[in-house]
Amino acid sequence: MLTIALAKGRLAKRTLERLSAIGFDCAEMLDDKSRKLIFEYPEQGVRFFMAKSDDVPTYVEYGAADIGVAGKDRIEEDSCELYEVYDFGFGACRVAIAGPADADIRKNGLRVATKYPSIAADYFESRGVTIELIKLSGSIELAPIVGLSDVIVDIVETGTTLAENGLVVLDEIFPSSARLIVNKVSMKLEHENISKLIKQLKLNQ
Ligand code: PRP
Repeated sequence: MLTIALAKGRLAKRTLERLSAIGFDCAEMLDDKSRKLIFEYPEQGVRFFMAKSDDVPTYVEYGAADIGVAGKDRIEEDSCELYEVYDFGFGACRVAIAGPADADIRKNGLRVATKYPSIAADYFESRGVTIELIKLSGSIELAPIVGLSDVIVDIVETGTTLAENGLVVLDEIFPSSARLIVNKVSMKLEHENISKLIKQLKLNQ
């Protein structure tokens, strides 16, 4: 049986729509009131579980799930050992540096708040700028407003959160979207089943 890790949160609805389109009855997974974590479809040889989106690459890397759906932002941040096999296209956003319009992102000692410490460190290191990293787990835009940091590294989707808080994009690091990821061992052992699933997803996009 293939085990598939799905991300709760911003990617969940679109992922389940795509799975419905290839024949999975996802009604139970779409029920907001349900606290169930694992959904089995023995007749289709598949079971799904819903994980925190940031954790999906970890489940796949360790083989607790054969396949997963995760944002490119998190895949890059965690540098997991896995295959990225398909770009769903939805969940499109940019990983960016943002802050007040007058912030100088070339200044040594810049304080950077983020939930992407590895991406932020690589970006500034490659530009020879020394920074102080401040790790946060959400509502990152607050940090420069309340004086915790000079700038942030975060995802920008519509840009509304930045605009409503008087912040701007200072530089873009890379574009992100939802990706299908596969455990390296599963790719060998379950090649036929995984290829079939990818083919179905591509045909029904
Ligand atoms: C993300 C991100 C930004 C916001 C960007 O947060 O961290 O805060 O969405 O979206 P926008 O450009 O469309 O306004 P999320 O909603 O995932 O919650 P979080 O702040 O708890 O991380």
